[in-house]
Amino acid sequence: MQPFDKFIAQFPAYQNTSLIDDLRRSDYGILDDQSHVYLDYTGGGLFAAYQLREHQALLAAHVFGNPHSYNPTSLQSTELIEQARRFVLEFFNAPADEYVCIFTQNASAALKIVGESYPFGEGCRYLLTFDNHNSVNGIREYARAKGASVTYVPVILPDLRIDQAQLLNALQEKSAGCFNLLAYPAQSNFSGVQHPLEWIAQAQALGWDVLLDAAAFAPTNKLDLSVWKPDYVPLSFYKMFGYPTGVGALLARKDSVRKLSRHWFAGGTTTVASVRGNKYYPAEAPARFEDGTLDYLNIPAVEIGLRHLQKIGYETIHERVRCLTGWLLQELTALRHANGKDLVQIYGPLTTQARGGTLALNFLDSNGKLIEKKRLETAANQRRISIRMGFFCNPGAGEVALDISGDELSSCFSRPSYEQRISDLDFQRCIDPKATGAVRVSVGLVSNFNDVQTFLEFARSFLE
Ligand SMILES: Cc1ncc(COP(=O)(O)O)c(C=O)c1O
Repeated sequence: MQPFDKFIAQFPAYQNTSLIDDLRRSDYGILDDQSHVYLDYTGGGLFAAYQLREHQALLAAHVFGNPHSYNPTSLQSTELIEQARRFVLEFFNAPADEYVCIFTQNASAALKIVGESYPFGEGCRYLLTFDNHNSVNGIREYARAKGASVTYVPVILPDLRIDQAQLLNALQEKSAGCFNLLAYPAQSNFSGVQHPLEWIAQAQALGWDVLLDAAAFAPTNKLDLSVWKPDYVPLSFYKMFGYPTGVGALLARKDSVRKLSRHWFAGGTTTVASVRGNKYYPAEAPARFEDGTLDYLNIPAVEIGLRHLQKIGYETIHERVRCLTGWLLQELTALRHANGKDLVQIYGPLTTQARGGTLALNFLDSNGKLIEKKRLETAANQRRISIRMGFFCNPGAGEVALDISGDELSSCFSRPSYEQRISDLDFQRCIDPKATGAVRVSVGLVSNFNDVQTFLEFARSFLE
């Protein structure tokens, strides 16, 4: 049986997603024309040619001015920004009287708004999972600076999921009379694990605010904010539909956004600011958090991208990603060297249950030693395969996956020469060879069977 027939026999639902094959031909032709095998959707999504055409036509048909004004060209920009804002909320099914959409540069900028403005104080708590992007980890520095305590709940091998009992215990230890924030990703950018959305209401019932990082989840999964009601949701739109880059959002509950207080103002964030009167009055959200001039030419392209996803439908996208991920998991775990040793070690769940299309793994030689990343990277690049190496800005999940202990890290970081600064090469010397992290393969919107099959052939080339 040919591999494709075997795949279809096991994942028949893939055939119901053929509209993506048509779309790939019509609008993502450059991938195959240039023989690219794109497997870094968790890094960034890809855009359809028609998204560009629609955006260009829109730009060509209007004159846009800086939106901080009331002249005709300014009002034109404002109208399209507000239309995009309404559409973002509608896309996530977020009731307009409950949620506000604050446009930002990316998910990290959305997270920074929460970090710098959340009312952490002496004795308050910031609780987060080991499995988090660094832009969520970074909030701990704001929390600590304001006297809050920071607690991490670990992930557990082999699946890299959270021990729910431990999380629930930690949630019980809320500080009374204080603001307490829980932060976790709806989907891990390291392992693809999808953490339960049920934690949102559980934590809120115990008095916590919840930051749900949806950056890696939203590209291939529907997030319905009429069902799940996190307080703060950061997003990057390029991860969802590739274009434009440089635009993200913080979706925030209106009552939760009122808790955020900023100790600065900028162009556009006030109703009145005075120099001689030495006073300023903050505008209401979203303007209060949108520093300076919004990216008014690109924001209208967000609506085009969201409509693109809507037209394909999350069910189709999700199903396709599930089938390809299932096949990858199955085929990779079956690869053995002649001496019977595994070629690949996957960090995270080995089934498609509650996981997305992101796989973190390492290649091992027939003695069980890690194959060097440089060798893997060179070989992948020769085949025009785009994958990612390292820790993917998620050190918590990576350290557990690679079994790098806190003691090992402390002894490295406390060496006199590394107290102030350390380069990635120094770090590799300290923690060698585990410090090179893992290989990340991620499927997404227009992935197809050939993409994953090319990666599997690449993997087989390391069999001894
Ligand atoms: C889960 C998650 N959160 C946050 C981010 C940060 O996104 P950005 O770099 O677009 O700000 C990423 C980026 O990879 C991510 O995967």
